[in-house]
Amino acid sequence: PRVLVLNGPNLQRLGTREPDVYGTASLDDVASALAAAAPGGVEVDVRQTDDEAELIGWLHEAADSRSPVVLNPAAFTHYSYALHDAVRVVTTAGVPVVEVHLTNPAARGAFRRESVVSPVATGVIAGFGVDGYLLALDWVGKHLTAAG
Ligand code: DQA
Repeated sequence: PRVLVLNGPNLQRLGTREPDVYGTASLDDVASALAAAAPGGVEVDVRQTDDEAELIGWLHEAADSRSPVVLNPAAFTHYSYALHDAVRVVTTAGVPVVEVHLTNPAARGAFRRESVVSPVATGVIAGFGVDGYLLALDWVGKHLTAAG
């Protein structure tokens, strides 16, 4: 099976963008760590886009291929109702979507306190830096085993 690890706007700059906030690991480093941690037979497909339409297309693809998703929606988290609806398409199809944030947005500025994605996500992991992606993959691996 394949797991889609989808990343929203500005996350291509991970490692250089506000390293004091987001850490020094790049998205390539995240992809390597995930590939190394993936259970046998699980392919991890890490993608990033600044484009809401592209991200929504990937979620439709996940629903159609029944691929579990690890999703860091970045700033779209806070205002994209289109992303909310697309995540709902996936989770109501019985395919899990784990929302991940490097930081704990609830502990940051006012506009970050709300996630329009969380109400339709399977679960949320926030505040543990890059480890959050690994924690999410660990759960997805267990889910895949349980789902057979
Ligand atoms: C983020 C948190 C968001 O508020 C922010 O817009 C991001 C990254 C995180 O991973 O902590 O771009 O999703």
